[in-house]
Amino acid sequence: MNNFVYHNPAKILFGKGVEKDAAREIRACGGTRVLLVYGGGSIKRSGLYDTLTDSLKAEGLPFWELPGVQPNPRLTPVKEGIRLCRENGIDFLLAAGGGSAIDTAKGIAVGVPYNGDVWDFYERKVKAEKALPVGAVLTIPAAGSETSDSSVLTKEEGLRKLGCGSPVMIPRFAIMNPELTCTLPAYQTACGASDILAHLMERYFTQVDHVDFTDRLLEASMRTILDYAPLALAHPEDYDIRAEIMWAGTIAHNNLLDTGRVGDWGSHRIEHELSAIYDIAHGAGLAVVFPAWMKYVWRDGPDRFVQFAARVFGVEIAHGNKERAVEAAIARLEQFYRSLGLPTRLSEAGIPDDRLREMAQKCTLPGPQGNFKKLYEEDVYNIYCLAK
Ligand code: NZQ
Ligand code: ZN
Repeated sequence: MNNFVYHNPAKILFGKGVEKDAAREIRACGGTRVLLVYGGGSIKRSGLYDTLTDSLKAEGLPFWELPGVQPNPRLTPVKEGIRLCRENGIDFLLAAGGGSAIDTAKGIAVGVPYNGDVWDFYERKVKAEKALPVGAVLTIPAAGSETSDSSVLTKEEGLRKLGCGSPVMIPRFAIMNPELTCTLPAYQTACGASDILAHLMERYFTQVDHVDFTDRLLEASMRTILDYAPLALAHPEDYDIRAEIMWAGTIAHNNLLDTGRVGDWGSHRIEHELSAIYDIAHGAGLAVVFPAWMKYVWRDGPDRFVQFAARVFGVEIAHGNKERAVEAAIARLEQFYRSLGLPTRLSEAGIPDDRLREMAQKCTLPGPQGNFKKLYEEDVYNIYCLAK
């Protein structure tokens, strides 16, 4: 096990009705002027918008709004938010929604105190050391951005989707009421489950030895998603099912489960090229990429894959045949995705095969990707080909 420092200061308020406390939490963090960041309207339809704005008014907190954040969020609204904050002396960002609203708020948060172009953080030219405080009201368990230290944005020019990370980006609080996720369309529920599972698998596939405790936590978390995602589709309004997924989604990505180990993250980078160009849901892209990545890399650490097959999918290793066990686990993973209505091939996601080389180049522009196996341009291209 590697040395590690674990520090995640995000306060979590979980359960029915907790969104009513949003304004009080902002006050407790010292916020006095608020920018409310949200997406295309789901929070208005669910009534969350009214609850939050009523709570801000009751607490006497003036607020401004940045609506219309789109999935796979873009850079331009971040710049608009930075301008709004500077012009109005806004000192707190409240994001209501999923990864897209929260990541936009995080981009604004680091952009306001920075004199240069906020994209510098995403190109990793500089690391964010200052940020306005952010609070998150989560409506979709998926990206884990509600307590993660990262933000992912797409720059319109060149369609580059890049992530940046810094401890100053961790939200001060995450408000998580599973009831708010009951309005999710089935496809978004499925995409969210796929993203959560991917965050667990990225951490699971490590080359670091003696990490059995976190292996076991990861296996339990993966099993939770494999069991509960189909239940959420069958019973979308069941609070307890939604609650299991929501809590697992946060724990999957708050860095607790990669303590002492080095995760892979190659599949995420490979996927980001798909959602950047084709604007597909991140979770759908991961369902396409992850099985192909597994087929390509498993021989670089067969024992870990055999453990995954046995403990997560209950695959028996007949006659010591590792290859067959790994193939069976990948087939079961693909079957899981299909059962949720997700694509497992580029073609099923409506993605043609004429830009695979370009995506492989863009993906490896900063250097080779992944830690389980270092992936160079040719490797990434081969993985896209396996996913056709
Ligand atoms: O825009 P609205 O109207 O709110 O609709 C959203 C959106 O269309 C809808 N939705 C959300 N909650 C709902 C709802 N519809 C009905 N009822 C509800 N309760 O769902 C759609 C997707 O929302 P989005 O915020 O895009 O989803 P998600 O949380 O999956 O975020 C995806 C983004 O996060 C990034 C992804 O790359 C992608 O850009 N990620 C961010 C990470 C991070 N910051 O740590 C890590 C992840 O690996 C990921 O890369
Ligand atoms: Zn993800």
